[in-house]
Amino acid sequence: EQTGKSGYDHYMLKEIHEQPLSLRQCLSGRIDELDGRITVEELDDLSDHETVQFVACGTSYHAALYGAQLLRAAGVAANAYYAHEYATSPAPVSTADLVVGVTQSGETADTLSALREASRRGAETLALTNVVGSTAAREADHVLYIRAGPEIGVAATKTFSSQLIGVNLLTSHLTDRGVKRRRDFVDDLRGIANDVQAVLDESEAAAVVEEFVDSDAFFFLGRGLDYPVALEGALKFKEITYEHAEGFAAGELKHGPLALVTANTPIFAVITGEGEAARKTIGNVKEVEARDAPVVVVTDGVAEAGRYADHVLEIPTTDERLAPLLANVQLQLVAYHMAAHLDREIDKPRNLAKSVTVE
Ligand code: G6P
Repeated sequence: EQTGKSGYDHYMLKEIHEQPLSLRQCLSGRIDELDGRITVEELDDLSDHETVQFVACGTSYHAALYGAQLLRAAGVAANAYYAHEYATSPAPVSTADLVVGVTQSGETADTLSALREASRRGAETLALTNVVGSTAAREADHVLYIRAGPEIGVAATKTFSSQLIGVNLLTSHLTDRGVKRRRDFVDDLRGIANDVQAVLDESEAAAVVEEFVDSDAFFFLGRGLDYPVALEGALKFKEITYEHAEGFAAGELKHGPLALVTANTPIFAVITGEGEAARKTIGNVKEVEARDAPVVVVTDGVAEAGRYADHVLEIPTTDERLAPLLANVQLQLVAYHMAAHLDREIDKPRNLAKSVTVE
């Protein structure tokens, strides 16, 4: 078994370290060498769409939330739904709509049912999946493979990063048609694997988490594109450490979660880019510091958020659409190192399955 782990203690850590490779695979042949245009052959016959709905569960839902924001920013009406909630309360769809099932395995029963329901009501469907020939891939009208390679650890890591790239490719495909290369973005996309490698080489997550072993709970904050990362950071943390972790939209803090904040609840704040969102989240960091909570800021440094933190987990600067992916790698390491410290069964957390094939 140790051979399968290539010398790493766990599949999860191996898969975290495989991300530079899996991201290169995801992008391979999809950026034109000459003019830098993003071209996704599989999507050539995808129609134009006025609205996009994402359906997904678990980690894939967080990629869906991120994707919906990307599309909205590019002028497409997009929303993300938990697939199981979609089944109970489906959003109206017509033939003008695209429904995207984000599912690593392509076998999650809730996501498959939501896709089938959307298809029954006339929507065009797309599966964004890792597994070639999976049920989602076979049933959907279109499929975009994220090419992350097999993922053994129950906690999704490299597949999430590749899903984030996958929804970027989809967004470019739907909104950039006829547009020549968007130079800075494409350059940063090409550099993303190296940036992930830099995070892996230089992360101080292992040292930072040691300080917080005896905490009551762990909270993760983010706004805008950093919000799905906060949710994913908390999900990963609770899945493998069994400690209480919650992710919040930073702006929601004052509407309830602030009541939970004490000197014994470390806050991980994800703050990338320099816009209004970053400035506002820095305001939230000050609020939790006033309640004596220890603060770890995961940041590219652009908004100088590190000044307000007890610890900083740095990421390289890149396009603001890609920075959340790098921040998430830091949070994968935070979860992993805490779980390792607590001696948890990292690759097979109790009560969880890699793929849930019942509704
Ligand atoms: C299970 C796994 C999660 C995963 C979710 C959705 O609950 O434990 O890690 O995110 O299913 O899986 P999918 O294959 O649809 O992405």
